[in-house]
Amino acid sequence: MAIKFIEETKTFKLDTKTSSYIFRVFEGNYLVHYYYGATIPDTEVEELRFRANYASFCPDSPSAMVYNFSPDVTPLEYSTFGAGDFRLSAFAVENAEGNKVTDLRYVSHKIYSGKQPIPGMPSTYVNEDSEADTLEILTEDAVTGVLVTLIYTVFNNHGVITRRVKVENKTDKPFYIDTVHSACIDFPGMDYEMIDLYGRWGKERAVDRYPLHHGIQSIKSKRGSSSHNHNPFTAIVTKGTTEDHGDCYGFNLVYSSNFSIDVEVDGFACTRLVMGINPDGFKWYLEPGEEFHSPEAVMVYTNEGLGEMSRIFHRFYANNLIRGKWKKAKRPLLINNWEGTGMDFDDDKLVSFAKHAKDIGLEMLVMDDGWFGKRDDDKSSLGDWVVAEYKLKGGLSHLIDRVNALGLKFGIWFEPEMISPDSDIYRAHPDWCLHTEGRDKSIARTQYVIDYSRKEVRDYIYGRMHDILSNNNIDYLKWDFNRNLTEVSCSQLPKERQGEVFHRFVLGTYEIMDRLTKDFPDLLIENCSGGGGRFDPGMLYYSPQIWTSDNTDPIERLTIQFGTSMCYPTSTMGAHVSACRRTGYETKMNVALWGSFGYELDPDKLTAEEKAEITAQIELYHRYYDVIHYGDLYRLITPFENEFKVAWQHVSEDKNEALVTVIQIKQAYNQFFMLRLKGLDLQKTYKDTETGKTYSGAYLMNAGLNLTYKPNGDGQSYRIHLLAE
Ligand code: DGJ
Repeated sequence: MAIKFIEETKTFKLDTKTSSYIFRVFEGNYLVHYYYGATIPDTEVEELRFRANYASFCPDSPSAMVYNFSPDVTPLEYSTFGAGDFRLSAFAVENAEGNKVTDLRYVSHKIYSGKQPIPGMPSTYVNEDSEADTLEILTEDAVTGVLVTLIYTVFNNHGVITRRVKVENKTDKPFYIDTVHSACIDFPGMDYEMIDLYGRWGKERAVDRYPLHHGIQSIKSKRGSSSHNHNPFTAIVTKGTTEDHGDCYGFNLVYSSNFSIDVEVDGFACTRLVMGINPDGFKWYLEPGEEFHSPEAVMVYTNEGLGEMSRIFHRFYANNLIRGKWKKAKRPLLINNWEGTGMDFDDDKLVSFAKHAKDIGLEMLVMDDGWFGKRDDDKSSLGDWVVAEYKLKGGLSHLIDRVNALGLKFGIWFEPEMISPDSDIYRAHPDWCLHTEGRDKSIARTQYVIDYSRKEVRDYIYGRMHDILSNNNIDYLKWDFNRNLTEVSCSQLPKERQGEVFHRFVLGTYEIMDRLTKDFPDLLIENCSGGGGRFDPGMLYYSPQIWTSDNTDPIERLTIQFGTSMCYPTSTMGAHVSACRRTGYETKMNVALWGSFGYELDPDKLTAEEKAEITAQIELYHRYYDVIHYGDLYRLITPFENEFKVAWQHVSEDKNEALVTVIQIKQAYNQFFMLRLKGLDLQKTYKDTETGKTYSGAYLMNAGLNLTYKPNGDGQSYRIHLLAE
């Protein structure tokens, strides 16, 4: 078992392939955290000590009268508000008496093989029970009877532990959950740096890295989505950590709405991280007999640097988060009409797209926004999911028949959580959008957000989608989400439940996505939110790929894709070649190949040479598909460290194949350039499939390739493809 309970010392030891995680039931039934890091032997667990600085103003706990024990300086496994620990609280309730004092202590535990799903929420899963062990620890606040179960799953073959909590009300009085984080981790010392992914529309997930300072540092969303602005990911790394060396603790939340990750360095220079639903705007009323489930936190530890941390996330998500047919099946090579036509298209235009696409070698046509209601611009019709026959003459089935007859599959765009004020549905149900009585409704992209906390509204929208999907031969669905939530309240809910609307909204979205994946198991779903505004593990549970950014400029894409790769696998990043003029098609392809590849341009406008170039690219796409989609990623030179050039490498699991890509962002004159490769087998011999030259793995990794004379003009790029002999 990956989880042990050592009876004599009441110690829990959770071991992954690369890490140990240790905590103990202490005097007074406090759960005290002792260790998280590289594996240590069971025999030395006894040696572990927690920090016991005792200082004035740190309150004692009468029920754990042990020398030097105060909740305020003890690394607690799941901290609570108001009972002696003044640092970040992982959990707090407002009880029936109206106060917020909360104090959870250990009651009992159980350990079992496998992992349970979270009702109504996305989470990582086991393919077989033997892949993971789960520990459930029941804790209780003795005064109020609030029950919280801390749930840990240890994935034996990955360096991964997941955490979440379940809150139960088995009392006869309701209470409010005020704060409910999914994980709380105390670190000894403060000698760490924090890495997060920040951005905005068109510039998602840039990497930020800074030393921890005393006080609280946070990343959060209050937008009702995980957002372009901050991603629910952070890494805490020891100073000096590189791609290849150093302690890395990676944290990612399987959640698509308001999140927070707070890191506090206290006055004793010790560190605590709490992560979960953002308490700002959240308050959950739990009636007797009800339970509440937090989202899941994924924790990765490695002492082999950021590159290995990312690869652990990638392998884990590819095996234990992505589901269904498209987990393994090769994704269709698509062309999307959005950048080519916007909403200015009709059936003949799309059929012409399809003809050209077929000639070039593409496999699927995706019809983007503009096919429904009276949709000629973004000012109308969201929610009116009826085919715009004035554009698609003869209807949707007729168009799809024509596209299918050319040998192409067909995909369609929806924005199921939105409603236009200028729509039949809004005119009939003006109360179906999120709004607060008596207040102006903020408008963004001329649209409102549908109140997905209301079941009848969800059922209506899903009914329309179901109708279109079940009556037409549709292979792919792009699910878009083009604004954030404002005036978040719901007139159907009582006053005490208004703090639930953000979370109920995302549960509503998850419910519809769940119905979609169950009713249409072969449908490939690509998520999107104005590009990558909802690129999170919650969405990946339902859709194996997400449109990474609306920014398709290949140079701009570099920071976006490098940042996204911090925890999200290559196969999840939607990446298209577009008509933007910054570089030639060679570089556009080289960048887009690092993802779920496709095209986003008007093929009617391509010259004969460009068409021939793209046809050749498609041959390469097929040749490299497996190593890119199923291989390991190595970031060789990142744009956050080098303004001139970047390089990355995909290596097959058996180390028999590698694809290296180098992009010259801007020309560097007279630069001597040696590139050391990574992840190869030192003992193997590799052949460069273009030049026929052979090298040992040892040479490639230790000395490196001399690439001084390769193309190095602004925006130029090249690949090196290696096969073991
Ligand atoms: C935003 C998406 O990111 C684009 O790809 C496109 O689908 C538009 N929305 C359509 O409105």
